Parts: sequence; C-alpha cells; structure tokens
Amino acid sequence: MHKVAITGSGVFTPSEVITNDELVKTFNAYADKFNFENKGLIERGDVAAKDHSSAEFIYAASGINQRYVLDKTGILDPDVMHPLLRQRSDDEPSVMAEMAVDACTKALKQSGKSASDVDCVIVAASNHERAYPAIAVEVQDLMGINGFGYDMNVACSSATFGIQSAADMIRAGSIRSALVVNPEICSAHLEWRDRDCHFIFGDVCTAVLLERVEDAESKEYFEVISTKCATVFSNNIRNNNGFLRRSRPDGMKDRRDMQFMQEGRKVFKQVLPMVSAHILEHIGSEDIKPSDLKRLWLHQANKTMNDFIGKKVLGRTPEPEEQPNILQDYANTSSAGSIIAFSQHSDNLNKDDICLICSFGAGYSVGSVLLRKINA
Ligand code: COA
Repeated sequence: MHKVAITGSGVFTPSEVITNDELVKTFNAYADKFNFENKGLIERGDVAAKDHSSAEFIYAASGINQRYVLDKTGILDPDVMHPLLRQRSDDEPSVMAEMAVDACTKALKQSGKSASDVDCVIVAASNHERAYPAIAVEVQDLMGINGFGYDMNVACSSATFGIQSAADMIRAGSIRSALVVNPEICSAHLEWRDRDCHFIFGDVCTAVLLERVEDAESKEYFEVISTKCATVFSNNIRNNNGFLRRSRPDGMKDRRDMQFMQEGRKVFKQVLPMVSAHILEHIGSEDIKPSDLKRLWLHQANKTMNDFIGKKVLGRTPEPEEQPNILQDYANTSSAGSIIAFSQHSDNLNKDDICLICSFGAGYSVGSVLLRKINA
C-alpha cells in the first residue's frame, strides 16, 4: 500500500459579492410586492403575508456577513431572484468546468506539478450542471490530463468522500495522483424567495491534489493518515429537482421543492451529535487523542454549529486559529467550505501536527480526513 499526501490546494472565488444588507433589501422589496399583489387573499386568510428579513437575524443565526456569487444582478432583482447566467454553446467550456480549471491550476501550482502528473479527476459537488458527459471528463480535457475522470455527489460531504475515493485508489496503486474538485454554484439551487434560508449559500470552487508521498515535490505537505465516511438517510435536507421532473404532473411548475429545502432546527439537532461522535470515533480508531488535534477545518454551514462541534470534540472552546471559519465571508458553499478553510488557514503548523478536515450535510452524510503535517 502506498502512502498518500495532499500536496496542493486552490480556491476559485467569484468576483461578485452580496452583503447581508443588499440581500435583505431585495428580499423585503419582494415581500412588500408579494403582499401588495396578494392583499385580498392575505386579508381573507387564504395566503400568508411574507415577513421582512433582517441582516441582524442573519448574522446572529448563522455567522454569515456576505457571500460570493457568479451573478448578483438577477439575485438582487426582486422580480427575478435567481442568478442569470449566459447560455453557453456546447462547444464552450461549461461554467463548472471553467471554475474547476481555475482551482485545479492553483492546486497544481502549489504542488509544483503539471497536468501530465495527474491520473484522475473527480468532480465532487452537490449539483452538476448537466447529466452527461461528466464535468470531470471536460475538466480533464481542458487541463490536458490523461487517465480518467468522473463526477460524484454526496451533497455537502462531496469533497471528503471524493478525497477518500482518490486516497483509496492511490493507496491501492490503480492511480498515482488525483485532483478532487468541488465547483459549487449554490446560488442556482437556493430559493432566494424563502426568508428561512435565503441567506445561506454562496458560490465557489475548491480543488486539492492527492498523490503518493514519494512523489511530493514540495518539502511541506499533508500526509493522509486515514479517512472515514458515513451516511444515514434523512429528508431534512432535500432537493427534488431531477431528470424525472417533466414526466410528473405539475413537474415543470415553479415548485418550492425543486430548490434546496431544509428543516434547519432538526438538521441542527440531529447532525451535531452525529458529527462529533464521528470525529471522536475516527481519531480514536487511530489512537489519537482530542488534545492531539492541532487544527479542525470543519464544514462551513453555521458558526454556532461549528462552535458546538469544536467544543464537543476538544472538550473546551477551540481558539479561533485552531478551528478557522470562513463562512462569514463565503457563507455555506456546500462541499467546498471545509476545503476553503483548509486552503486559506493551513499555515503556522509544525512538523507532525495532527489535523482534521470534516464535512457534513444532506444524506445525512459526514466525512473526515485525518492529516499529518510534514515538513521534510
Ligand atoms: N430574518 C428575520 N427573522 C427570521 C428570518 C430572517 N431571514 N428567518 C427566520 N426568522 C425568524 C423565524 O420566523 C423565527 O421567528 P419566531 O421565533 O417568531 O417563530 C426565528 O427567526 C427563528 O427561526 P429559526 O428558523 O428557528 O432560526 P434558527 O435560529 O434555527 O436559524 C438556521 C436558522 C437555518 C440558520 C439554522 O437552523 C441552521 O443553521 N440550521 C442548520 C443549517 C445547516 O447546517 N444546513 C446544512 C445545509 S448543507
């Protein structure tokens, strides 16, 4: 069996930002318009009036200040309230592939490697913009990578599940290296007209390069000690959009269940114990104590959630640098969140420090990657 390392990472960040104030202004304009247009129905009690959103609530409930998106004009237009992306021809790169190439190029640069060193591309994300051909095969083609690629989806846990798949193939010897890429266009599956969740998501793409330890060019990298994945079925985070849509009565209507839906409170209550127990079991199986963990890069959905998990795992409140959050700037970016935190906050670690990436979400799903910092 070969030893596996993460030798590089990269983040593509869209250029457009939406602050909480901008978001709330649009939502409230939409709510006022809805209430005006449905005045009679609301007065008769047939339709519920829409309440205003609030930037103070959003920050207090989630820790989110702003989010990056591919297009803010459509999202911030009260008559549209979703991103507006240009139709591309089949001969142009897809949006997801373009974001992926940017993040992969950065990951390769950090590793000191080129496309010819890569054997496999896994595009692991919570949505893919088409059914086939796989986005991963397109990324492979655009980057000039030999070998093979495939797409996979485990919602918010896609990155860690993808890392496990790549690490297992490298360990077993079927490949020497893989790019695991997470292009997340969450703005396109968020219901911006739903006050309970309109603030949750943002867009981004992350990538990591995994390779055999013996192939690492850089003197500094992270050795993968082990990975652990788990799933338990739940309907509390769900999106019904899919290829059977047009075959069903009312399938093509503007239906709420064709976007992201969640029972936020239930998710909170059920996922927290699952994740803390998962991390403790994972480190326990490697004879690693909580006090040995020098950094936790957690899924970035909610600050209170992360504070709770960190405290449960470490047995004390983590210092901010021990468990860095990026959700205040990026919001929830689904599978990419923990990898942004890893990519932007993996400095100041010493030789042999033990660290952990952990993502969790729909499924339910939870995936963790235990790493050892190597300074060769
Ligand atoms: N602006 C102002 N008030 C709002 C609001 C908004 N945008 N959205 C909800 N509220 C109000 C509600 O109406 C409710 O009022 P009430 O107490 O008078 O009924 C109150 O705020 C609390 O609402 P609730 O939905 O219970 O909020 P919460 O504190 O649970 O926070 C989430 C909501 C979504 C931030 C939180 O549940 C969460 O983060 N859950 C897990 C998210 C997650 O990890 N998802 C994974 C996705 S991958």
